[in-house]
Amino acid sequence: MLKARESIRTLKGYHPPLGEREGLRLDFNENTVGCSPRVLDRLRTLTGEDIARYPVRDRVEPLVAGHLGVRPEELLLTNGTDEAIHLVCETYLEPGDEALIVVPTFAMFEIYVSATGARVISIPAGDDFAFPTETVISRITEMTRFIAVANPNNPTGAFVRISDLLRIAQAAPNAAVLIDEAYFEFCGETAISVWREVPNLFVSRTFSKAYGMAGLRIGVLMGDQQQMKMLRRTSSPYNLNSAALACLPDALAGREFVEGYVGDVTAGRRELELELAAWGIRYWPSRANFVLMYLGDNCKRFIREMRERGILVRDRSSDHGCQNCVRITLGSRDHNAQMLSALPQVFHDLGVRHQVAR
Ligand SMILES: Cc1ncc(COP(=O)(O)O)c(C=O)c1O
Repeated sequence: MLKARESIRTLKGYHPPLGEREGLRLDFNENTVGCSPRVLDRLRTLTGEDIARYPVRDRVEPLVAGHLGVRPEELLLTNGTDEAIHLVCETYLEPGDEALIVVPTFAMFEIYVSATGARVISIPAGDDFAFPTETVISRITEMTRFIAVANPNNPTGAFVRISDLLRIAQAAPNAAVLIDEAYFEFCGETAISVWREVPNLFVSRTFSKAYGMAGLRIGVLMGDQQQMKMLRRTSSPYNLNSAALACLPDALAGREFVEGYVGDVTAGRRELELELAAWGIRYWPSRANFVLMYLGDNCKRFIREMRERGILVRDRSSDHGCQNCVRITLGSRDHNAQMLSALPQVFHDLGVRHQVAR
């Protein structure tokens, strides 16, 4: 009988709850309004011939490199961040190697590591999901070949100082250290500034979040030129589709769209955090486009009540240390207002007492 590799047979897989997502989508950290009108206009110009041809990635890469302030040889466009993580794991990990992952974090790190047959060493985050830099450094061994950090992290919104990431990369010269900056635009701090100091540091970005292009699947992986040569060997030359490549220059040029959206998200984040504080709900200050909160026994009912009002939010209970926690994505001004106006009624119905006199 045909058998999948042992490392695949034992894999649990990641199955996000994609069914029945009618309503205001505050459950997947997507852009709530969609991509920019400029990108949509470009999509409408695509012809049958454009689709018939194999996509040419190399023409767009220099443009993206210029936008990010790196050299084209230091960058690879990927089919979303997911492919970037996959490629790094495929390039550097062998069965028996070790990968350090601080949990809770983005589920795909563990999946791609495990698929190679390497061993995931899970390190729990500290109090309030603080990144345990010293513990990570103390767990680095000769077997450590991969360390992944989402910065800001998902689902906590926590941020790791760039200087700490640099120390980790320097302490693990035999490991590929991947900094996943999927939420960079909502935070503004990047490891790109330091990566040339350590050739084993990689940075990834995505067009799925602030740019609202998750359905087109566009990511970017950056790193040392010699290492990027290795990564290109495992990547398909056609990993991005023609529609995605055609739209990318317009997405980059539409600066005001992204800046406006990020402004709405960060304003909404402040308002949501203030509202949660006013209701005495525990939450973790976030640098991303979402906020994680602890709702205790009310968790499932809160999610149901929000859904009844047409607002989808995400139960993160199955993440390490997140039992009875809910994550709410922020979006456009109107969408945030819709969510914020539903909260008082829902909290009231759940018997939560407002802590601050209005
Ligand atoms: C930390 C993190 N990295 C990567 C991704 C996926 O990004 P992409 O759509 O570019 O594959 C997500 C999506 O939720 C995420 O939270």
